[in-house]
Amino acid sequence: MTAYTQLSNTDKDQLLAELRQQYDAFATQQLDLDMTRGKPSTQQLDLANNLLRLDGFKDSTGADCRNYGGLDGLPEMKALFSDIIETPVENIIIGGNSSLTLMFDALARACLFGVSEDTSPWHGQEVKFLCPSPGYDRHFTVSQTLGLESIRVDMTDSGPDMDQVEALLAQDASIKGIWCVPKYSNPTGITYSDEVVERLASMKTAADDFRIMWDNAYAEHYFSGELDTVKDILATCAAAGNPDRAYVFASTSKMSFAGSGVSAFASSANNVSYAKKYIGAQSIGPDKVNQLRHLALFPDLASLRNHMSKHAALLGPKFARVEQILNEELAEIDIARWTKPRGGYFTSLDLNTGSAKRTIELSANLGVKLTAAGAPFPYGVDPQDNNIRIAPSFPELDDIETAMRVLCLSAKLATLEAAY
Ligand SMILES: Cc1ncc(COP(=O)(O)O)c(C=O)c1O
Repeated sequence: MTAYTQLSNTDKDQLLAELRQQYDAFATQQLDLDMTRGKPSTQQLDLANNLLRLDGFKDSTGADCRNYGGLDGLPEMKALFSDIIETPVENIIIGGNSSLTLMFDALARACLFGVSEDTSPWHGQEVKFLCPSPGYDRHFTVSQTLGLESIRVDMTDSGPDMDQVEALLAQDASIKGIWCVPKYSNPTGITYSDEVVERLASMKTAADDFRIMWDNAYAEHYFSGELDTVKDILATCAAAGNPDRAYVFASTSKMSFAGSGVSAFASSANNVSYAKKYIGAQSIGPDKVNQLRHLALFPDLASLRNHMSKHAALLGPKFARVEQILNEELAEIDIARWTKPRGGYFTSLDLNTGSAKRTIELSANLGVKLTAAGAPFPYGVDPQDNNIRIAPSFPELDDIETAMRVLCLSAKLATLEAAY
């Protein structure tokens, strides 16, 4: 196959006609496939069905989990998250079923009350947040919903572009935070290098109430090779003299049942005690019965890792199929680059500038729904209009194959159309 840039006009005409025929052939199949969101498949969810059985109601201290109390979570659940995110138990608060809620609440507290007793509420000030992109759309929605302006910075293969981050933070005191998914990042799948973690922890910030939103959502979610490790952000911040800089989040959403898991927040002793003051006003205690159910399923890190190896066995072949089809369809024509994730939930595809929206539209017209163009960027605007997030976890292998063929065909058509 020839790179599209090398094609003569006559070759292009002929190829476009052939591709349009293939497109029309797909149209007769009346497809209805959805690769819009990174949801666990039914088989993955089935692995945790024992969550619905519980033999007793007491935790390790003998407390009855059916009753009120235990604001910051069961001790054994804190111990489990302490192993997952490698943070001492005293720095952890267990939340409800969603880490995104904990993130929203952490920023809402900052807006209403400030990040500590001696800082001012963000509300009423001009406040900006750094959004490494492509990134997780719901993060950007959280900060934007709270009135914080999103500033886009680039993602590299080892984390956010730290030259950009440091330059912006050094001179702009209205930038008060940054979103980070440090392991198997959403959607590029990269894991932050030690150097990036060290620079984030030690960089100068014009704002003295700057916070890193460290969403370790994919801490245990590998499907290829060994589980990646990421340098401990809380310890690195403390060593750099910025002990209160990072808020860490995690959850079991994509280990047990999505949306019915257990979430956790971890930070410095100061930040944890400040957060507890407000969490204690919000609630008499979290859902401890759900924590107990999770502990029956995952009594320790070893059992959780054993469980996640079963997820890996289901997810690995799906990502391998995505990779195989991208290679078969696009490698030789030089119109795209894509990530090769070893964990997380996404493959990130970059096409030529200006062709993502059209590719997604062409796919949709054939019944293949993809994440909206621009979704992984603040305000839904991809400045290059070239990025597509591929989410293969939910569909069956055959459907992934069909959806990927349609996506690649649409990408070829969009690229050729743009060349005229
Ligand atoms: C990076 C990231 N963080 C958080 C979440 C949601 O987590 P939870 O279900 O715990 O709110 C997701 C879900 O896709 C995610 O990709």
